[in-house]
Amino acid sequence: MKKIHILDKLKQWDIDIKEIPLGDFDQIGEFTAKKNRSPGTDLYNRVGCFFRPNYERGILIYYLIRKFEINSMLEIGFGRGYSTFCAAKAMSDHGIDGKITTVDTNLNDDFLNSLAQVFPKNWFDKIEFVKSTSDVFFKENNKKYDFIYIDGDHTYDAVKNDWNNSKNIYNNFLLFDDYHLPTKTEKDIECAMVIDDIDTEIFSKQLIIMDRRIFFDDRRVKDEDIDYGQVLVTRET
Ligand SMILES: C[S@@+](CC[C@H](N)C(=O)[O-])C[C@H]1O[C@@H](n2cnc3c(N)ncnc32)[C@H](O)[C@@H]1O
Repeated sequence: MKKIHILDKLKQWDIDIKEIPLGDFDQIGEFTAKKNRSPGTDLYNRVGCFFRPNYERGILIYYLIRKFEINSMLEIGFGRGYSTFCAAKAMSDHGIDGKITTVDTNLNDDFLNSLAQVFPKNWFDKIEFVKSTSDVFFKENNKKYDFIYIDGDHTYDAVKNDWNNSKNIYNNFLLFDDYHLPTKTEKDIECAMVIDDIDTEIFSKQLIIMDRRIFFDDRRVKDEDIDYGQVLVTRET
C-alpha cells in the first residue's frame, strides 16, 4: 500500500506545519485522549508517565474537514471524544454548517457533562451522540456521509461489518484507525486483514504514518520504524 508521512499528506492539502496551532489539539487531547504509562514499565521509568497517543489523527481530521468543507461525518467509536471534538472545532472555526454523528456502545452522560464544562457549546451543537453498536446503527440508518471514520471494535469480523456497511454510504473519504504492518502485532487489532482485502480497482488506499510525527515522541522512534498508521480510502476515478 502507498505510504505517506502526515506532514507530506498535509502539504498535499496546502497546509503548512507552521500554521497548525498544536496547543489547540493538545488542549482537546488533555481531556479526551491523553494516556498514562503503568508504573514500573521501561518508558515510565526512562521518559515519564504521560503521552499523546496519535494526537495527529485530530490534526488530519481537522484539516480534512477544512480543506474539503466536509459537512457530514460519521464516526464509529467515540472513545473519549478526541476526534469528534477536533472535527466539531474544525466545523465551528470555519463556519461549516455540518454535523458529526458519533456512535459508541459506551457513551457516558457524566463524562459528556464534564466535557461540557470545558468545551464550547457550539462544538456540542455540531455533534449527534448515538449510544448503540455500529451494527444496529447501520441497520436503522440509511443516510450518506461525506466522511466516515471507522474506529470502533478492531477485531476482524467487526471491522469487516463496519466496512461493508460503510463502503456504499460515504461520499468522499473513509478513514480506518490502527492499520498495522506485519511487523506489528497486537491482540484484537485486526483492521489490516480487512483493509488489505479492499479492492484497489474500485478504491484507493493510502497508509498515513502519523503517531507522534508532529508532536514530540518521547520514545524517539524514527519515522522509518513506525509500522502502523491510519488508512485513508477514496474511490478510484
Ligand atoms: C479506540 S476508541 C475510539 C477513539 C476515538 N475514535 C478517537 O479518535 O478518539 C474505540 C471505541 O469504540 C467503541 N466500540 C467498540 N465496539 C463497538 C461497536 N460494536 N459499536 C460501536 N462502538 C464500539 C468502544 O466503546 C470505544 O469507546
